Amino acid sequence: MSDLLWQKPGVAVDAQIQAFLAGDDVVLDREFFLHDIAASRAHAEGLQRIGILSADELAGIARELDALAEDFSGGAFVLDERFEDGHSAIEARLVERLGDTGRRIHTGRSRNDQVLVATRLWLKEKLARTQALCVETAGIALQRARAEADVPLPGYTHLQRAVVSSLGMWWGTWAEAFIDNAARARDTHAWVDANPLGSAAGYGVNLALDRDHGTGALGFARMQLSPPYAQLSRGKFELAAIEALGSAMLDLRRVAWDLSLFTSAEFGFVALPAQYTTGSSIMPNKRNPDVIELMRATYASVAAARSEIEQLLSLPSGYHRDLQLSKGALFHGFGKGLQALALLPDLLRNLEWKPERMRAALEPSMYATDLAVDMAKQGVPFRDAYRQAADPARWAGGDPAASLAARTSPGAAGDLRLDALQARLAALR
Ligand code: ARG
Repeated sequence: MSDLLWQKPGVAVDAQIQAFLAGDDVVLDREFFLHDIAASRAHAEGLQRIGILSADELAGIARELDALAEDFSGGAFVLDERFEDGHSAIEARLVERLGDTGRRIHTGRSRNDQVLVATRLWLKEKLARTQALCVETAGIALQRARAEADVPLPGYTHLQRAVVSSLGMWWGTWAEAFIDNAARARDTHAWVDANPLGSAAGYGVNLALDRDHGTGALGFARMQLSPPYAQLSRGKFELAAIEALGSAMLDLRRVAWDLSLFTSAEFGFVALPAQYTTGSSIMPNKRNPDVIELMRATYASVAAARSEIEQLLSLPSGYHRDLQLSKGALFHGFGKGLQALALLPDLLRNLEWKPERMRAALEPSMYATDLAVDMAKQGVPFRDAYRQAADPARWAGGDPAASLAARTSPGAAGDLRLDALQARLAALR
């Protein structure tokens, strides 16, 4: 490893302890290394604005940071165990290339605000991606809700046949759910969009750092105001972000559950395109819906990440190294979650429904509620109508189209309100 930034003369470093301290931190830092470099540039510009760096020194730093970003992206520079972390690697590179100028970069900053700013920049991208995937999912659901609005589907409660539902209702569910999830990702993005750079180790620094410049240069909507709170917010904003993702994952898990039921032979309502299924090593007949099962299971990874981050936050004020461990959880949770979420739009786009199977699953009892309400409309007290409609002798069968029309057409309580959903969705694009 290159020299540790904080190493004291004459104090030997124990390899086992050092390995424990390091963990996989430097490898994790690859994930937001480009953001760390971008923030270093903004910081250097700020230093030049207050006379700590000359224009020439800034130009050299900017050039070397660009080169580092390029080398890292192209693989010519590998961020690995030679460095304690990504932050040290940036400084080491600037010192190697620029000597004393490089040794000035850390004036007025701490790795504590470096890691904060890099994490926030990284999360803004991930939340934007979460929002975009939710918007795309909702768009497909809405489109299919319109196209298949009147196709009857059994509606279940307790997994027991209840009333006649429709594909319009099933798709409308996911349209609104993912609109909500997109809105949550957007709101969380707005909350995370604040610049901690300049808060240094959590107590500011005796320099007139131009924090407004850094805020604008890095594209933040606002500045974090209280330096100690900038530190305290670590973990808290990661938690909010993983919860926003978790909200989408919760619905993804439900969709996957519905589909794994509906694709079973017992239901047979929908067929998955072949690429979403796998085979069995022993049973030649099998076509298993592994993709939706793993999509469903991915909820566990996101929930585990959320839990790990939350468990780290039982700390007094100020920076603590405990917080370092939030990174692995955050990166892993978002990595897995977004990978699964990214498969959802195409999966939904490609579902092939089996309307004849869905229709065959409707049975006369499923019109009993309509019957009771119809009688109540004629003036029979609902509780009496309910008792009469419970009599199987009165279940003459029914017409799914009429049942659906009475509940889901404009003005009815179950109105699909697809135009209103469309309007909400348009505001999130
Ligand atoms: N890798 C560290 C983290 O993620 C960076 C900050 C280190 N700060 C310190 N005072 N040791 O928290």
